[in-house]
Amino acid sequence: MIHKFDTVIVGSGGAGLYAALEASKKSKTAVLSKLYPIRSHTGAAQGGISAALGNVEEDKAEWHAFDTVKGGDYLVDQQAAKILAEEAIQAVYDLENRGLPFNRTPEGKIDQRRFGGHTRNFGEGPVRRACYSADRTGHMILQTLYQQCIKNDVAFFDEFQVVDLLLDGTTCHGVVVVELSTGELHIFAAKAVLFATGGFGRIFKITSNAYANSGDGPALCARRGIPLEDMEFFQFHPTGIMGLGILISEAVRGEGGILRNRSGERFMEGYSPTLLDLAPRDIVSRSIQTEVRAGQGIRGDGKIDDYVHLDATHLGKEVLTSKLPDITDFCKTYLGIDPAEKPIPVLPTAHYAMGGIPTDVHGRVIIDNANTIVNGLYAAGECACVSVHGANRLGTNSLLDLVVFGRRAGQHVGDYVKQADMPQPKTSAADEARDWIDKLTDGTAGPHGGHISDEMQVTMMEKVGIYRNENDMGTAVDEINELRERYKTVRVQDTTKQFNTDLLEIIELGNLLDLSLITAASALNRQESRGAHSREDFPDRDDDKWLVHSLAYLEGDSVRLEEKTVDTSIWEPKPRTY
Ligand code: FUM
Repeated sequence: MIHKFDTVIVGSGGAGLYAALEASKKSKTAVLSKLYPIRSHTGAAQGGISAALGNVEEDKAEWHAFDTVKGGDYLVDQQAAKILAEEAIQAVYDLENRGLPFNRTPEGKIDQRRFGGHTRNFGEGPVRRACYSADRTGHMILQTLYQQCIKNDVAFFDEFQVVDLLLDGTTCHGVVVVELSTGELHIFAAKAVLFATGGFGRIFKITSNAYANSGDGPALCARRGIPLEDMEFFQFHPTGIMGLGILISEAVRGEGGILRNRSGERFMEGYSPTLLDLAPRDIVSRSIQTEVRAGQGIRGDGKIDDYVHLDATHLGKEVLTSKLPDITDFCKTYLGIDPAEKPIPVLPTAHYAMGGIPTDVHGRVIIDNANTIVNGLYAAGECACVSVHGANRLGTNSLLDLVVFGRRAGQHVGDYVKQADMPQPKTSAADEARDWIDKLTDGTAGPHGGHISDEMQVTMMEKVGIYRNENDMGTAVDEINELRERYKTVRVQDTTKQFNTDLLEIIELGNLLDLSLITAASALNRQESRGAHSREDFPDRDDDKWLVHSLAYLEGDSVRLEEKTVDTSIWEPKPRTY
């Protein structure tokens, strides 16, 4: 079946919904989502959205932009960071006006709390910059934006999985998708396509990411010759529930929670004397792993799955239930403990991809280091790389990124489609996807994808995790390529058409394998330590050689890497101390 829309948005998290809201003011807009929209992973973002409102203490957009650049270890494009910080303020008030129930100060203003790496006056000390709705901020953003999209008559196609991108040279013509409830293939012809498909934390064994986070947009782009930017930078959030990876919000530390080792010491005093537990995430995650390796984890055996404590017992039941109700429930449900009474066992968890589909500040996808635009193709949110996070994202800047750049992309799309022609694809445009799915479901005996997925996640976790070295990453590249070879023989065991989750998982696994390869190869290539990319064999940041973005092109079993200039037009890169 062929559908025609001016604008097709793939993904219904915060970036997709904000883009849809804007694009639908000027164009016939559809949102395709593999999930029911309000189950999108934006809903898992807990602690807040940053904006220098200055409601509880003095703050400035300029300080916010600087913190973002420094937090990203100077790999951030600085004019983009300036836009992020300046537009944050109106973006938050717009969300408030659209009905988002923020927590309030006693005078009725939007309340603000501390988060890692957010400082006053260029690093003097922590500042309260994160606007929040208890520990359900992302969930509230989703609800607010979804309601507005319904009001604007956006057409939603729920439970449609994207499988191909239609590109003709450097012009996009639409996407091919599987309707999960029937197994039928659909072509969505569009003047513009916007990917907002979220992250791909599922390449790792321990992750805060939902099962649906399989990087569908970036993987399709990579297969169609579009490079992916800065893929070596993957954030580990310091506090996942030990063994499970479920997120325990940084807001716990923002409200005063303390990380402690087996001796009960506040070990962050030794790693970040100014910001302590609220240093940027790359620093806190490395500090936890260093403590564990030194035998200072709770069991003290130095093994990788040893853990530390996040102590929130001194915050009291009232703060925990009013400001952190979800994490209180998670601790009770998954650990059987009440955080008001016992410390929470935590370890870093794979959380956020700083890299992704390269875009300009209007969300337009670019295809090379000369910033050549792909006509009619946009990306926003975690799947995109603007780049405002550089080598390490600050907490609460992800919700802000998807709101600010989702909105900007939606506005640009709305204008672009007015002058673009509607493509006229034939049903044969879906042939490649159809042949592939026919092969997967042809009834031939073949292995199940589950084992391949398990092996991929272990390889990435152990060899391309927080600490990295050449030997491990080289082995990871080989292992992932072997898994990609085995993947070619995988077959769907379930022969039904309706809601065939076996097929869905195999499609997602193919995406994750490609992104694993690109991540490992990009990390192997970068011979320095910067932000979340920490190499034991190259422990220092090397601005002379590596103050550059990477662009990774997937070419069969190999990844070709090129460099792209970083915008350092406002602040000169300096050593990063906290
Ligand atoms: O810790 C958190 O609440 C996560 C927020 C984020 O990733 O920005």
